[in-house]
Amino acid sequence: MTTLTIPRPDDWHLHLRDGAMLRAVLPESARHFARAIIMPNLVPPVVTGADAAAYRARIIEALPADARFTPLMTLYLTEETDPEDVAAAHTSGLITAVKLYPAGATTNSASGVRDFERVRPVLERMAEIGCPLCVHGEVTDPEVDIFDREAVFIDRVLEPMRRATPGLRVVMEHITTSEGVAYVAAGNETLGGTITTHHLILNRNHLLAGGIRPHYYCLPVVKREKHRLALRRAATSGEGRFFLGTDSAPHTDALKESACGCAGCFTAPNTMALLAHVFEEEGALDRLEAFTSRNGPAFYGLPVNEQQLTLSKTDRPLHWPKDLPTEDGPVTLFAPGFDLYWQITVDDHPARPA
Ligand code: DOR
Ligand code: ZN
Repeated sequence: MTTLTIPRPDDWHLHLRDGAMLRAVLPESARHFARAIIMPNLVPPVVTGADAAAYRARIIEALPADARFTPLMTLYLTEETDPEDVAAAHTSGLITAVKLYPAGATTNSASGVRDFERVRPVLERMAEIGCPLCVHGEVTDPEVDIFDREAVFIDRVLEPMRRATPGLRVVMEHITTSEGVAYVAAGNETLGGTITTHHLILNRNHLLAGGIRPHYYCLPVVKREKHRLALRRAATSGEGRFFLGTDSAPHTDALKESACGCAGCFTAPNTMALLAHVFEEEGALDRLEAFTSRNGPAFYGLPVNEQQLTLSKTDRPLHWPKDLPTEDGPVTLFAPGFDLYWQITVDDHPARPA
């Protein structure tokens, strides 16, 4: 198969940031993706419906004139979140989901949840109105090894929370372990799981063996090879519970290449070429569209995009810039360590690189 046409994909987990960074990275997602779930971990975070409306307006303002892209907004759940503010924002169509960060789990998560009992009224209201909860599934207990934090979160937090709030729709985001895959696969129709591009490509040797590679550092941190293989099986299975959430998370090189570097891989520009490579390796190109374009809309009750995206295999490797320049400094693009051969076109609009 050298050409593949699929409905335009969506990104069910994306960091766009704000200001100069937003203006620089937004066109990179809008080029291929029709919609994206926009993460609310700004400083300060997007907490109320009013915050989400203002952030949405800034995103729309930053879109290139010819872009065809819809941001799907989220609220950042805190222990002070008002259930009625969430309900009003969801019912009016302003937000698509609410994001749960355990406090301290990752970038800008200080306002996240410490005591899960305190957010129960919000979760119950969300279950009533069908508003999904997107979950960063890692415990922050310093006693728990960072490589085990996802598996422990399932037992300590996620399963008890789902049992206590029947009907709550939950997306376990950026799953990174075979335990995460098994939990999502065994769930009912209220549970979905997103998988990033980079977790399909990297294991912890790529991050740590032969030198530390800050551009491969993300959270949840990449795991052993057996987990990467489990993620590949899930993503390429066609199974409806698994869908793409890139977690494309730009930080400037100065912040990544530091004694205490930020977590995040910037994959928005080349994710579709990377995924075509991965799915081709797995002999599953025919299931790429389930993962990128069909399973997510089905979970969220949204239509599949009408526009199309075509992936064409070329003979010569494509050339990507090493980084994206921004007013804040360069942001290194995710480099997988192998050549890419899949060129992407949206409808009749040629998309970079030529
Ligand atoms: O790698 C990550 N980067 N993981 C997260 O959970 C947050 C994100 C960010 O905002 O930079
Ligand atoms: Zn994220």
